[in-house]
Amino acid sequence: MAEANSRAEALIQSVTKKPGDYSPGLEGVVAARSRLCQIDGAAGKLYYVGYAIEDLVQNSSFEEICFLLWYARLPRIDELENLQKQFREYRALPAEATTFIELLPHTSHPMDALRTVVSLLSTFDTNPEKSPEANLHRAIRLTAQFPTIVATFHRLRQNQKPILPHPKLSHAANFLYMLFGKEPEEMVGKVMDASLILHADHEMNASTFGSLVTASTLSDIYSAVSSGVGALKGPLHGGANEAVLKMLQEIEDPKNVDTWVEQALAKKQKIMGFGHRVYKNYDPRARIFKEYARRLSEKTKFSRFFQVNDKLEQVMQARKGQQGIFPNIDLYSGIVYHQLGIPTDLFTPIFAIARVAGWTAHILEYWQDNRLFRPNAIYDGPGPRPYVAAARR
Ligand code: ACO
Repeated sequence: MAEANSRAEALIQSVTKKPGDYSPGLEGVVAARSRLCQIDGAAGKLYYVGYAIEDLVQNSSFEEICFLLWYARLPRIDELENLQKQFREYRALPAEATTFIELLPHTSHPMDALRTVVSLLSTFDTNPEKSPEANLHRAIRLTAQFPTIVATFHRLRQNQKPILPHPKLSHAANFLYMLFGKEPEEMVGKVMDASLILHADHEMNASTFGSLVTASTLSDIYSAVSSGVGALKGPLHGGANEAVLKMLQEIEDPKNVDTWVEQALAKKQKIMGFGHRVYKNYDPRARIFKEYARRLSEKTKFSRFFQVNDKLEQVMQARKGQQGIFPNIDLYSGIVYHQLGIPTDLFTPIFAIARVAGWTAHILEYWQDNRLFRPNAIYDGPGPRPYVAAARR
């Protein structure tokens, strides 16, 4: 413990800015202490509460990862079974919420629908209790409901009846069941479970920070999670997975990659699925997704996407590798979802279905020692001057 503390202190010393230093995008600013997630950006390593992501994807399940993040330890079997039971119990939405979702324009982006429904769900929560236990209970219920919100909106926008949650399936398999109306093959369920594990948490990313800023005012968990959903939607963050697929469709063929990249970089365009604020090496999640994408793409009509991505990697490595710009998680996740038959605009909502575990875990942890987030800005507008009446301007 003492060793871990001194490591943390050394890290704080090495990356912290001095008070008054200006850091655009808060780069290098240490804004919280957390025992949930550690990224070694130089080595391209990721750990949840000390467990390597490769190990967790291989051996764990999304439900177990939720427990790990909320309790900062792995569950015993009875504890895991209890959490699985709670998830199954809480999956269904209030009937009024489903009616509300039906009223949303079918053309809405599913992330907008998700953000709106999270907000709506707060109005059904009449429990005035604000204790850590009550908030953990809300975190479990919200996480259980996220797949139902996304699947319900998706079916209603296609004029299909929503499918009630399955009482037996895992979190990942049940989402696919509610989306497509049939139980997924075991391998497909496993791929979705792995995807949820890979996306569950990522230290002080933009959406987690956004949700913590809201939580730090002692607002409620629904408001904080809505902030997270809003921040995740942007293409510089979670929205990149949707943008990657559009990019692949535009590039179309591996032989077009060189010219496409050259033109995009000449226009100072960011290449989606590359670069990261913390990783200056290959994102370990991208490596795992790449393997799933490779396996799923073999001998299918979608293998072209994989070939385009592979070529993109080579070209970007040559052009931008020196700058520490490598593939991130979003480069290959889209190909995987596409292979599973998932519509492109549901890619980011799937990210949210996983990350709600991380947001809520960080919120609950932050509230244990809360302090209002309130940074400063450098004022560089005009100096004090007299007000001029509208008629004289
Ligand atoms: N393509 C081309 N150039 C890039 C890219 C990219 N994807 N990423 C960074 N760069 C370049 C910038 O142009 C800049 O170059 P310059 O110094 O010559 O001007 C330099 O690298 C630093 O870039 P910043 O944008 O300042 O770096 P920052 O740490 O703010 O950005 C970010 C990180 C936003 C992820 C960026 O790499 C990016 O926009 N990537 C594409 C979008 C993306 O894939 N987002 C998903 C990230 S993972 C996630 O959130 C789940």
